[in-house]
Amino acid sequence: MNLTSSEARRMKAAMAEMFDRGAATYDRVGVEFFGPMGRELVRRADLRPGQRVVDVGCGRGAVLLPAAAAVGPTGRAIGIDLAPRMVELTRAEARAAGLTQVQVEVADAEAPPLPETAWDAVLAGLVLFLLPAPLEALRAYRRLLRPGGRVGFTTFAAHDLRFTDALRVLAQHLPDGERQSPTAAQEGLFATPESTAALLETAGYRRVTVEEATFRSQFRDVEHWMTWAWSHGARALLERIPTERLPAALADASRVLTRVGGDLVLTTTVRFAFGVRAAQ
Ligand SMILES: C[S@@+](CC[C@H](N)C(=O)[O-])C[C@H]1O[C@@H](n2cnc3c(N)ncnc32)[C@H](O)[C@@H]1O
Repeated sequence: MNLTSSEARRMKAAMAEMFDRGAATYDRVGVEFFGPMGRELVRRADLRPGQRVVDVGCGRGAVLLPAAAAVGPTGRAIGIDLAPRMVELTRAEARAAGLTQVQVEVADAEAPPLPETAWDAVLAGLVLFLLPAPLEALRAYRRLLRPGGRVGFTTFAAHDLRFTDALRVLAQHLPDGERQSPTAAQEGLFATPESTAALLETAGYRRVTVEEATFRSQFRDVEHWMTWAWSHGARALLERIPTERLPAALADASRVLTRVGGDLVLTTTVRFAFGVRAAQ
């Protein structure tokens, strides 16, 4: 997708506003989803005490807070996000937890306003595919890294079929002519492990690895699933369904989600991609 710079600015602002409206509940509705994925990204990043790490698109800290724990009080963990409410809430949580090594600021993940060659790792949990220009963002992260430093990010490799079907039936309740617009601007670039690796290589990284892991998320019932759907990117679809159609939309989603019977458990496969800034 080639966008003009004003289209890209508008898209980023709309994305940040949508996440801002969901920030209070994002990753805080009692569903194990972003948390385990973020912790796994940090585990694979193999951070050491005293290191300096940047987390772009930090949301409510699913990556930032475990990264801060890994680098410890002698390290530094900076989170940036374009949604001010996400920043405010995550900053407050880090303060309350006494994590003096954490700093959280409003900034664009495509151009982090940070010193170059100063960081051991740049992490990005489930955000790069939302950006209008992920390749340029990855190039910017490479400049932030010290030689030998690593970038690590996650993308969705596969959603549970019941999840994608539920979104599809919800989208049938959009006003005539409106499509289920993907929240992701550049999902295609991350379509396969090969395309993901190629993107990292094109951005100048070496020793590129792309691996996958599957996560299970359990919901009490369909209402709980719906509360969760409002708390993250699916909100972009739900907000466009006319209020009077929401009960029928939920009934349709419910039929899809409960068709298997038993506990409502969805599986999600996440891709973990890493690359190294080679020593010059
Ligand atoms: C799917 S959430 C992921 C949050 C967190 N990394 C996690 O793993 O839970 C995407 C986050 O990226 C932020 N975001 C979207 N576009 C951004 C941009 N251009 N710059 C900075 N943050 C952005 C959103 O506000 C949101 O908090």
